[in-house]
Formats: sequence, structure tokens, C-alpha cells
Amino acid sequence: MNTTLYIDQKTTNYKLAQKQLTALLANETDVILKMATINAVLKQNLPYIYWVGFYISNQNKKLSVGPYQGTVACMHIDYGKGVCGSVASSEKTKIVKDVTTLAEGEEHITCDPNSRSEIVVPVFNKQQQLIAVLDIDSEEFSAFDEIDQNFLEKILSIFQ
Ligand code: SME
Repeated sequence: MNTTLYIDQKTTNYKLAQKQLTALLANETDVILKMATINAVLKQNLPYIYWVGFYISNQNKKLSVGPYQGTVACMHIDYGKGVCGSVASSEKTKIVKDVTTLAEGEEHITCDPNSRSEIVVPVFNKQQQLIAVLDIDSEEFSAFDEIDQNFLEKILSIFQ
């Protein structure tokens, strides 16, 4: 693979996604509509995405599945469990290059056996409280890197 071309393509795709989201969500205040639209725009622009969706945080330190695109997802995840739950606890983005080789105690929750790598990004509101995590899975190993992290964190600042 030509890495430079690949990185350029990724950046171009994210810039297009950002442009579309700015246009689509400029006057939108509804959180669910924003989440649903972000899923659709990301999945349309980034060919390595297999599953994309939000897990919404509730007061009992549990995550419940929100808007998503892809195969049927696990509906409930406790804070601290799997990659999504660990990001909900740490409030820091996590990139997993190979979900099959996670250490004990930080297992990937296998909702779909086709998932090979993933990125999970925390979502904050204006008060800097965690409201959700964005979970993106790929059927490719090592699909996600700092480029994804930077663009996704920027895109998700729309909730603040
Ligand atoms: N990736 C998650 C589980 C959710 S599904 O992949 C949709 C995790 O291990 O937290």
C-alpha cells in the first residue's frame, strides 16, 4: 500500500465529512439527530468503517446503545467493560489495532465477530460531562490512527 496516498485519502475523506456535517447540522440542536447524521456521514465517506454508533451514558454508569449503522449491536455495556466501557470510565479516546489480542481485563465485547480493529471516542456536552461514546469498528486490522482520532474529536466537539 502507498502510505502517503492512503493518509492523503483519509484526510480528504474526513475534510469532506466535516464539510457535510457543518452544512447539515448548522442549526440543529437535537442530540439524537446529530448522532444519527454523524453516523451516516462517516459511514458514507470512510470505506473502512464496518459499524459506527453511539453508546449513550446514563446516571447509573451504564451505556445504552443509541443511533448506529451496521449489524445488530449489544444494547447495554457497563462502565469499565470492553473498549466502550473503558473509554466511558477514562474519558480518553482509545484505538485498538487488533481487537483479538487485547490483554485480560480489557477485552473487546464481541457484538459482531467481523470486527478487527476499533476506535472509541468520548463525547462531552457543554458542561464537559460525558454524554456518550462514539464506537467505530472496522473489518480491517489497524484501520484507525491519530488522523481518525484528531478528526473525530473535532467532529464530536459539535455536542459542546
Ligand atoms: N466495540 C465494543 C462493543 C460494541 S460493538 O462492537 C458494536 C466494545 O468492546 O466496547
